[in-house]
Amino acid sequence: MNTPSVAPPPRLAARDITVRFGGLLALDSVDIEVAAGTITGLVGPNGAGKSTLFAVLSGLRPPQGGTVLLDGRDVTRASAQGRARSGMARTFQHPELFTGLTVREHLELAYRVRFAHRRLWSDLLTGGAFRRAPAPEAGRIAELAAQLEIEHLLDGPAIGLPLGTSRLIELARSLACDPAVLLLDEPFSGLDSHETTRLAGTLREIVERDGPAVLLVEHDVELVLGLSARVAVLDFGRMIAHGTPADIAADPRVRAAYLGEAITEQEDQ
Ligand SMILES: Nc1ncnc2c1ncn2[C@@H]1O[C@H](COP(=O)(O)OP(=O)(O)O)[C@@H](O)[C@H]1O
Ligand SMILES: [Mg+2]
Repeated sequence: MNTPSVAPPPRLAARDITVRFGGLLALDSVDIEVAAGTITGLVGPNGAGKSTLFAVLSGLRPPQGGTVLLDGRDVTRASAQGRARSGMARTFQHPELFTGLTVREHLELAYRVRFAHRRLWSDLLTGGAFRRAPAPEAGRIAELAAQLEIEHLLDGPAIGLPLGTSRLIELARSLACDPAVLLLDEPFSGLDSHETTRLAGTLREIVERDGPAVLLVEHDVELVLGLSARVAVLDFGRMIAHGTPADIAADPRVRAAYLGEAITEQEDQ
């Protein structure tokens, strides 16, 4: 009991993040931590800064101030691709899929960004001969496609599918590299209730089985409170609360800023 123990650093942490767009303070000294093997929910009204924080965490936007830490290592200056190689994956609020690539090719690319980026050059030099041999990613892709029920879509184009399906493909892509950190920007929006229930179950399974640290932005507060171990609340660029779902549901500042109506409606049912 007297032995000093050093807690391991959280899988993902951001400290004192500040982002300005001209005169607008989009993120004001924001701190957040996401532990491995848990879902951390991030909620807040439209324009609160959630997507901006995702851009900073994933390396798409350098912050004007603050630090991003992956397993305690400072990655603030690392590129988005460098972070992807370190095991960070994300989905976008508006799915970003490529014209001209099949669903399978999206998943192959994501896998190879993390595990086989050196092979890209040999593939380019050999004209893609890798396709004739069973690739190491094939097993991972088959497993994911079965889990997300998208097997029948693998060899078709990724563009032009219904929004709910596009979200599943983006999620499959983000999971293809077996991420250590998974950033999900409104992955449920546009899904019907059946798809939502299924995706929520799949997310839980993935977190329990593979242990990624998940940061989940989602509009449906009830869903976030139900899925997350911890919840953080952004309002006008400031982190106004973070805690367990019960803490958050009871926090008067949060109720005033954002949650009041949703919770009252829920209690009335
Ligand atoms: N590229 C940008 N240029 C200027 N303002 C931006 C840009 N991106 C976001 N903003 C502004 O920053 C604030 C936070 O936006 P965002 O992070 O998208 O919020 P959320 O995802 O919580 O809805 C908003 O006021 C938004 O208009
Ligand atoms: Mg957003």
